[in-house]
Amino acid sequence: MDYLAVKHAHVGFVYVSITLFTLRGLMQLAGIDWRRWRVLKILPHVNDTLLLTAAIWLAVTSHQYPFVAGWLTAKVFGLSAYIGFGMVALRRDAPLRVRLPAFIAALASVGYVVGVALTRSPTWGLI
Ligand code: HEM
Repeated sequence: MDYLAVKHAHVGFVYVSITLFTLRGLMQLAGIDWRRWRVLKILPHVNDTLLLTAAIWLAVTSHQYPFVAGWLTAKVFGLSAYIGFGMVALRRDAPLRVRLPAFIAALASVGYVVGVALTRSPTWGLI
């Protein structure tokens, strides 16, 4: 498989992931039950699985591994924070004072990961 094509696919899945998460988060904050749309229930799981599959393929193919390359370690931690905060933000039973900060923290986490990816540095090359 072509490395560049998979890298572009990985970035495409990132855009779709952020878009679908933001959409569901905003709908949830507006009190709209996004779970009524099957596509919004299923597509994020399919997309995020493909995102991670492409990520693993890129890491293996380029011989850069988390816990060896600092920037990939930072991406794994950032991704875990995105997933964790994202799950809280989309929880049906959590109060707004929990969901809103979790939503913002999830977007900040994924934004951090994009910065790490673009600079290939856990500190965005600032330190
Ligand atoms: C939410 C999670 C993630 C986001 C937002 C993200 C974002 C990105 C972006 C924007 C690029 C393109 C960088 C460029 O233009 O040079 C990229 C490339 C890449 N990502 Fe991710 N990524 C994520 C998760 C991961 C994970 C978990 C891994 C590894 C296990 C990973 C491994 C890679 C690799 C190896 C490349 C290719 C680097 C290169 O050859 O230029 N990504 N990622």
